[in-house]
Amino acid sequence: MHAALSDFPLFLAPMAGVTNTVFRRICRNLGADVLTSEFVSAEGIFHRNERTREYLDFEPDERPVGVQLFGANPDHLAEAARQVVDWVNPDFIDLNFGCPVNKVVCKQGGSALLKDCPLLERVAGAVVKAVAPLPVTAKIRIGWNAATINATTTARILENVGVQRIAVHGRTKEQSYSGKADWDVIDQVARTVSIPVIGNGDITSAEDALRRRHETAVAGLMIGRAAMTNPWIFTEIKAAMDGSSGRFRPPTLADRWTLIVEHCRREVIRRGDERRAMHGMRARLMAYSKGMPNGRHLRERLARVESVAQVEDLAAAHLADSESTGDAAILRNSSTTRCSAATAETPSPGR
Ligand SMILES: Cc1cc2nc3c(=O)[nH]c(=O)nc-3n(C[C@H](O)[C@H](O)[C@H](O)COP(=O)(O)O)c2cc1C
Repeated sequence: MHAALSDFPLFLAPMAGVTNTVFRRICRNLGADVLTSEFVSAEGIFHRNERTREYLDFEPDERPVGVQLFGANPDHLAEAARQVVDWVNPDFIDLNFGCPVNKVVCKQGGSALLKDCPLLERVAGAVVKAVAPLPVTAKIRIGWNAATINATTTARILENVGVQRIAVHGRTKEQSYSGKADWDVIDQVARTVSIPVIGNGDITSAEDALRRRHETAVAGLMIGRAAMTNPWIFTEIKAAMDGSSGRFRPPTLADRWTLIVEHCRREVIRRGDERRAMHGMRARLMAYSKGMPNGRHLRERLARVESVAQVEDLAAAHLADSESTGDAAILRNSSTTRCSAATAETPSPGR
């Protein structure tokens, strides 16, 4: 679809409240090939409030970048997609058929459409027609529950209406984020349709990535929660795929703090209000600090930061402390911190 994409692209998973323009660009710099906005409702597009504008905000160096939409009304979604194209001209529109959050599902959006294939077909078909020739992609879960796993059927329908790529999160709606992603089903989907299928779920290391690439027919991988703690995961996977793992230098504790402070600074610039920006950063700081030495104590402090200067002070003290106890060296010599998907952050109930 995008000529410049690598043979086996790495996607940053859309994550509400996380994958804004600042974080997406951090991940792009560290090797993510394709970026997507967090999900936006068709109605949000029509209202064009400040929040929606923020969701749609992206910089030219993020391309290829897509805007993810959700909803259940084919006409509304088609019109919303048309408006998004006029408004920000993304490289693709992505349709969310995977969100398990009740607020979305009870309005028939997100993963609710996995239970209503005729409606899913109409929604996807209407959007494909509305924005042609711009590519439309979709993100699905493997089914509603263990008894109704239908990802191959869903994928065939999407392919038939002209969707050009499908990301499959290997869990059911009922699983939400519990249990493990089922890569056998992801593989079946990849072998069923001829459009590219991107595998998603529980990739936390280069080892996981190589294994999924080797054992399944997916055309690329999508990474979510692990990137929140360790955005270097994209660099590490790229190095492993190129056979140059030996040249990958895992980030040191100092590298991590440099990136954290830079992320904070960019958020402050983006929002133009330091206090608000730093409140918004607190959850990001929790994710970044997972696996750091003396993490519990650190997180208690990070949970209260109000300014970039406070984060800088915490970083300096933490680095000095870790150097004196030898913890920084331990982290430096260990491979990249793994983010356990089971303990990683899950979406807040409202999003
Ligand atoms: C905080 C958070 C927010 C998410 N928001 C979205 C979203 O807006 N759209 C979407 O398609 N998936 C969303 N997801 C699901 C992820 O894209 C991804 O499918 C899921 O986290 C599994 O991948 P992982 O194991 O690599 O994290 C979200 C996940 C998390 C943890």
